[in-house]
Formats: sequence, structure tokens, C-alpha cells
Amino acid sequence: MLIKTPSASASRENDVTPESIYLSRRSFFAAAGGAAAALALPHSVQADASPYADVEPAQAPGWFTDKLKAAKWQAVTAGNETLTPYKDATHYNNFYEFGSDKGDPARLAGAFKPEPWTVMVDGEVGKPGRYSVEDLFKEQQIEERIYRLRCVEAWSMVIPWLGFSLGDVLKRFEPTANAKYVRFETIVDREHLEGQSSSFSLIDWPYIEGLRLDEAMHPLAILAVGMYGRVLPGQNGAPLRLVVPWKYGFKSIKSIVRITLTAEQPKNTWQALAPDEYGFYANVNPAVDHPRWTQAHERRLPSTLFSPNVMPTRLFNGYDEVAGLYGNLDLRTNY
Ligand code: MTE
Repeated sequence: MLIKTPSASASRENDVTPESIYLSRRSFFAAAGGAAAALALPHSVQADASPYADVEPAQAPGWFTDKLKAAKWQAVTAGNETLTPYKDATHYNNFYEFGSDKGDPARLAGAFKPEPWTVMVDGEVGKPGRYSVEDLFKEQQIEERIYRLRCVEAWSMVIPWLGFSLGDVLKRFEPTANAKYVRFETIVDREHLEGQSSSFSLIDWPYIEGLRLDEAMHPLAILAVGMYGRVLPGQNGAPLRLVVPWKYGFKSIKSIVRITLTAEQPKNTWQALAPDEYGFYANVNPAVDHPRWTQAHERRLPSTLFSPNVMPTRLFNGYDEVAGLYGNLDLRTNY
């Protein structure tokens, strides 16, 4: 983000998966009662018979494929907006742990498989501890949420995530009366994550993000573990990442290993790097420009030189239902 303006996405128009195909895949899951027969295996190949031409079958943990059997499909939709092709969503990524080029995460993430993955929950909670991903979500139904993702760099996508309400996860750990914020931390592994060992990296690892507790409790905020009906690919933040659709994409921290409830506002990575350019709130706002470019418009991927697919950006990325969270806040100074 700090480094360069992104080039146009390489996808062609005919890579677009029509929504009808996507929806038929959804019905396929429902009709099959959760698809593949081998779901109980710890690493079954999921959705082998997928009608998506461009979505590869994935190796998924047994708990994930089990959850899919009872998934609530299309719990939130993006109206009639076209889904971003899977190929764009998985090959045009920001994940600086793997490098600063948009293609680095897809090129390198496949080889990075830290297992078993655990998440430390600590700080202002009644029930701190180290939890497996399966454990974190064991009481919740998995939901499909089709959200717009608006990057601060002025490109956007529409992605069908699979995940769980963040608020419901947090309630389980019993936030104390002192808890006012939630701080999220990404894994550090300098040996295997090229971007973290690079001498060119400006980031002070780990990547950190934060939300006010009431933002975290908003029903639109989720922890995602999948997308496009399959388990989350490494480049998109496997095994779990935050998705906060009314905020710029950098708030949606990937590959989380620690969730801490705090009394003080945490300092997030981009705010620490360039406080004049990136703030704590990072609510999508067409009226507050980035110092180096306008935020009034966005390029919806796929976007090419001849078909840039530019559209107006909406306040809170069109999620007007969150406006009440910011009633008393000056959105110009709290960017
Ligand atoms: N999380 C971590 N740990 N590291 C990152 O570099 N990049 C952020 C966010 N989460 C980032 C991260 C940015 S800038 C964006 S726009 C989104 O991830 C991109 O998510 P996507 O690659 O799934 O589209």
C-alpha cells in the first residue's frame, strides 16, 4: 500500500463466473447434504465434483467439511452485484508476510502449512486460553456472507466468505467490564515467511489490527475460514482471518494467532507506519481522500486498461447499518 499503485488485474472478462453457476453450486451442497461422502476424514478432498470450473477442490480439515453440512448459505448477499472470479480473489492479494507483490501470496502460500494452528485468547476476558481453530467455532453454525471488499488502494471485489460471527466467538470468552477494544495479531515465522525476513520490509512484525469492542460485536463482523464454498486458501489468510466489510481491506487481518481484549486502543500496523495516511478506524469513506489519491471511486476487479470497471465508492462501503456506531465521531479526523 505504501509501496506502489497496483496495476490492473490480469483477468479476462471470460474468467467471470456467472452468479447462476455459483448458485447452482450452492444448491449442489444443499442437495448433497454437505457434498463429499468422505467428510468425516481429517483431510478430505472437499467439493470434488464442484460445478465451478475455476474453483479447485481443496484439502480441508474434517471439522470444516462437517460444518459445511449445516451451513447457512447466503446469510448475507450483495444484492445483484457480480461475484469476483475466484482466480482474481486468490491471485491479486495483499499479504505482506509473503512479499509486497500482488502475486507473491499465491506463489508462496501453498508451501506454508503450520499445523496444528492455535489461537491465544487473552487480556480482558474471563476465559483466557489457547484454542484450536475447531474449538473456537465448535458451538457456531458456519455462514456464507457475500461481502464487498474495498481496499484502501481503490480496488474492490465481491467475495462469498464462509465464517462465523466474531461477536458470538468473543462472548464465549466473557469480556470483562474493562474490555473496550480487540487486538488481533498475525503469525510470525521469519524462517518460512519471506516477507518477514526481507530486509526491504518496512513492517514491524507481527501485523496488528484492532477494533473497538462495539465494532467487533456488530453482526456484520466475521472470522472467515473459507470462501467460494471451500476452505480458505493460504494467500487469503488461512486458517482464519477477520472480515469487516465496511472498513478498508487492511483492517481484515489474515492468519490470526492471537486475540487480545484490551482497555486501551491498540496501534495497528499501517497506522504505526504512516499515521497521516492510515488511521485506526479506516471506515470506507468517499469524502475523505487518501493524501496521495482520491477515495471517491474504486476499480471493481476484474479491471483492465480497456475495461477499467470504475464505480463510485459508498460511505461504509454501502453498509449503512453500521452508521450508528459512529454517531458522535468526526469521520474526517478519525479516518
Ligand atoms: N493481513 C496480514 N496479516 N498481512 C497483510 O499484509 N493485508 C491487508 C489485509 N490483511 C494484510 C492482511 C490488506 S492491505 C488487504 S486489502 C486485505 O488483507 C486483502 O485481502 P485479500 O488478499 O483476501 O483480498
